[in-house]
Amino acid sequence: MLYLYYMINALLDKVIRAKHLTREEIVCLLNTTETEPLFSAADRVREKFVGNGVYLRALIEFSNYCKNDCLYCGIRRSNSTAKRYRLTPAQIVSTAKQATGYGYKTVVLQSGEDLWFDTDKLCEIIREIKKLDVAITLSIGEKSREEYAAYRQAGADRYLLRIETTDKQLYEKLDPGMSWDNRVRCLNDLKSLGYEVGSGSLVGLPGQTVESLADDLLFFQQLPVDMAGIGPFIPHPNTPLAAEKAEGHFELALKMMAVMRLLLPDINIPATTAMESLHPNGRLIALQSGANVVMPNATDTQFRPFYELYPGKICLGDSSEKCRSCIESKIKSIGRYVENAKGFHGDYLKNK
Ligand code: SAM
Ligand code: FES
Repeated sequence: MLYLYYMINALLDKVIRAKHLTREEIVCLLNTTETEPLFSAADRVREKFVGNGVYLRALIEFSNYCKNDCLYCGIRRSNSTAKRYRLTPAQIVSTAKQATGYGYKTVVLQSGEDLWFDTDKLCEIIREIKKLDVAITLSIGEKSREEYAAYRQAGADRYLLRIETTDKQLYEKLDPGMSWDNRVRCLNDLKSLGYEVGSGSLVGLPGQTVESLADDLLFFQQLPVDMAGIGPFIPHPNTPLAAEKAEGHFELALKMMAVMRLLLPDINIPATTAMESLHPNGRLIALQSGANVVMPNATDTQFRPFYELYPGKICLGDSSEKCRSCIESKIKSIGRYVENAKGFHGDYLKNK
């Protein structure tokens, strides 16, 4: 036990000094049961590099139509029990406007891969929201370079596209009809077009190894990402992975997140909604283990139950106003504050 403690501390000293670990060393940290020194090291590094402010991003889930069929996902196209909805462009813009009224300075537009929203429609929505003087993050899946370029020109600032797993074989098994190489192509295109790029992993997928999780972290470091979200996989009852369990996924996701903070000290890391769905204080624990961002739900309450990626999703019956004030008081309860200086959007580059 004492030996393990010294070994973990030696690895932590190394990564804080060199911002580098070998694959084997990452595996060792991900496997450790000696988690306290890891989480507190990630917390210290977070404070040193990105401070005590927490950036809030208003998440607008604007459509649950999806052409893809990811085996883990509750809104996959083959889930015929999912009740589909799609906000109109005017509804999306007015939801964004409402979010700015609650003090948000970034809106995240997220959806399934819904082809109804062609490039023209999306660019028009982006241009309208941009008039509100907010940063715009898109999370709408795989597109062509030309489409990404058009959104960027219309005013989109950031893009979230999780790699989900760097295990190519596993990815293509769990995301039938999709290509891992194309997902990497998307991330590279987004980078070269000047987006702030967020990626991330799903943790606890069936067949996923700790070694492949270590590869995910090395992949994020090599890209490098400006932001990365680590989500525990939560099995959805109306998917082919219904019989899987979520046990241990929260703890492992937290360890992934903490090691990521040590390897990439100045990036933006969200305390993910899925973490809080598995643990009542999941987001606060994440904020104290390396995270510095929260993405509260700003979707109109009537649509929330239908964006059911996994069961037990938090805040389904709450209003956007309640989510905004609730998260702020939680953040204050751990001695942190919402970063809301005027004109400060929490861009990754401003962390530097
Ligand atoms: N269509 C966009 C995309 O593919 O990036 C954005 C929407 S997608 C539903 C957002 C994220 O939800 C995915 O990247 C995935 O990691 C996460 N997700 C899907 N199913 C999940 C599950 N069962 N448990 C936890 N997270 C899940
Ligand atoms: Fe498309 Fe999940 S399968 S968003």
